[in-house]
Amino acid sequence: MEPSAYLLTGLIGLVILIGVTWRLASRRHSIPCPVWLRWLVELDNPFTKTNRAAVITDHLDLKPGMTVLDAGCGPGRLTIPIAQRVGKDGVVVALDIQPGMLKRAREKAQGVHVTNIQFVEAGLGQGALEHDRFDRAVLVTVLGEIPNREAALKEIHGALKSGGILSVTEIIFDPHFQSRGTVTRLAEAAGFKERAFFGNRIAYTLHLEKRTDGE
Ligand SMILES: C[S@@+](CC[C@H](N)C(=O)[O-])C[C@H]1O[C@@H](n2cnc3c(N)ncnc32)[C@H](O)[C@@H]1O
Repeated sequence: MEPSAYLLTGLIGLVILIGVTWRLASRRHSIPCPVWLRWLVELDNPFTKTNRAAVITDHLDLKPGMTVLDAGCGPGRLTIPIAQRVGKDGVVVALDIQPGMLKRAREKAQGVHVTNIQFVEAGLGQGALEHDRFDRAVLVTVLGEIPNREAALKEIHGALKSGGILSVTEIIFDPHFQSRGTVTRLAEAAGFKERAFFGNRIAYTLHLEKRTDGE
């Protein structure tokens, strides 16, 4: 076997081992992705297209000047391409509960001279977000890490403008994977209506719309 094949096999084995251990631990506790594992998030998922930053961003129908929430931004994998799409008249609020993740996202933004990002250290559902502010919100492999998912989705619903879209991405390789049925149930309870679905049962993006006109 070529040395590169050994390396790839080892990497896949390591990822599987971490995933299994973490999934077992997550059954009892909602554990945020540790900061030391951020490199795994930053790989931009070699296993499925659905979770790639470019694919998620393309679905968002972003326009210059929009205001976007990256909820559970991690090391900024989506934050930076979204900030580049909305341009200098737009803004991205990058929120995360872990300072180490925000530090990494801030360093990356500085490295590419992106300045239209506001970093917020807070837990979703704790009331840090302004009401009726956002055109879009993204929640990518975050929901299962949040102990009070109902409160988190209600807060995002309140923070979106009427007609605003929440984009939720879940992939089975994530130890905290949430099924489409679970996400739909929680989102409807928070007041969202399903708007679009991309992908399949094990790797998908669900678009949920905030409607305030009774439709
Ligand atoms: C698997 S990472 C995903 C990061 C990013 N969304 C991405 O796809 O590249 C999950 C992130 O959610 C954050 N997180 C977990 N619980 C949270 C909470 N209650 N409020 C805000 N962020 C949270 C973690 O700190 C971590 O950075």
